[in-house]
Amino acid sequence: MYTQLEQRGMPQPPVNVSTLRKMKHDGEPIACLTAYDASYASLVDAAGTDLVLVGDSLGMVIQGHDTTVPVTVSDVVYHTRNVARGLRRAFLVADMPFMSYTKPDIALDNAVRLMQEGGAMMVKLEGGDDQVQIVEHLARHDIPVCAHLGLKPQSVHKIGGFKVQGREPEKAEAMCAAAKRLQDAGADIVLLECIPNEVGKLICAALDVPVIGIGAGPEVDGQILVLYDVLDITQGRTPKFVKNYQAGCDSPLAALETYVREVKERVYPAPEHCFS
Ligand code: KIV
Repeated sequence: MYTQLEQRGMPQPPVNVSTLRKMKHDGEPIACLTAYDASYASLVDAAGTDLVLVGDSLGMVIQGHDTTVPVTVSDVVYHTRNVARGLRRAFLVADMPFMSYTKPDIALDNAVRLMQEGGAMMVKLEGGDDQVQIVEHLARHDIPVCAHLGLKPQSVHKIGGFKVQGREPEKAEAMCAAAKRLQDAGADIVLLECIPNEVGKLICAALDVPVIGIGAGPEVDGQILVLYDVLDITQGRTPKFVKNYQAGCDSPLAALETYVREVKERVYPAPEHCFS
């Protein structure tokens, strides 16, 4: 009766929260990517990615918006359901979009939709101290949570653009304190976006739960990038932390395998992908 989650006719068992915690403990980097559909999800999974996020970045890379703000819960449910069909081993996380977690009960209803209708194994939400109560409420209902700190794209109109966060010592300390409070409230993963290397290192050392970075330097437990950036599909200016893995590779699968290998070998991120 317990075999479905552990055996899907594959050599390696599916990744779960215990796997991710053990990887942190053992110092094995966690390779993560976003995905939005079943075909790419199967490639991302075949490349050996440990964690797949159906990010609200889908608003930008799939829907063509300038920000993630227009994305709805139904959009994320739809894409999560499709990604779930393409995965065998990777752990599936779904983003809670803008304004979908304003109150504990609203957050719970939407998280349940992402898990029951979408097949997500964890939900991700953006926020610091202001989200402690929400995380506590979800954790009390056994909903695994990833807390996203640093640059919070859903707040782009409030902060006035996509900017590096936590450069000032007091802001870095506040971010670290918020990360600890979110962990104590029940967050199972902390994701850090666009912060100086030193702040990523500080927060990672302070937490027991895995810390995944995107533009947070090399000294965190894992790395995540937006799939379309890695495959050089995104046109125009990309953030400093992006690396084009399609260059020099003759297939998307080869590019994704190179990304996973470089994360595992700590080749990515290199100094040119980092903030100080
Ligand atoms: O929405 C997303 O894809 C994300 C990643 C940038 C981490 O939150």
